[in-house]
Amino acid sequence: MTITPSPEPTAASTPSTPPLHTPRSLLITGGAGFIGANFVHWVAANHPNARMTVLDALTYAGNRASLNGVAPDRLAFVHGDICERTLVERLLHEQNIDTIVHFAATSDSTTSPPTRCTAI
Ligand SMILES: NC(=O)c1ccc[n+]([C@@H]2O[C@H](COP(=O)([O-])OP(=O)(O)OC[C@H]3O[C@@H](n4cnc5c(N)ncnc54)[C@H](O)[C@@H]3O)[C@@H](O)[C@H]2O)c1
Repeated sequence: MTITPSPEPTAASTPSTPPLHTPRSLLITGGAGFIGANFVHWVAANHPNARMTVLDALTYAGNRASLNGVAPDRLAFVHGDICERTLVERLLHEQNIDTIVHFAATSDSTTSPPTRCTAI
């Protein structure tokens, strides 16, 4: 018996599915952290019409410089806490947010208590 391996899928053979959602204005919480900052750069490269607002408290894990290189007209950085309800509501309204991506967290559970908001 001869086993023929299946061909690798190629762009031509992979059915293209239209995007379910095209973000225009994103609120990215924790966007100065490890995953968030990488996501910001990915959006900048892959969604040229999207504008981003990063809300980050800049804890031990946050680094504003990790967002360097993203065009200022694509990115607004807000130093603040996701638990500040009025701040979050103002950003949603002022920035016409249509997409929220949530990365804000206290991920090092050995040194810090987890983020818990009582106001939201
Ligand atoms: N890093 C990983 O390998 C990994 C894997 C799976 C899931 N995750 C999850 O993804 C999320 C992000 O992970 P990460 O590695 O980027 O974490 P990180 O600690 O690097 O970044 C978290 C960011 O959240 C910010 N932040 C913390 N509390 C905040 C608050 N109250 N308001 C606003 N900003 C706040 C910090 O300043 C920081 O910039 C976490 O929920 C984590 O559990 C991470």
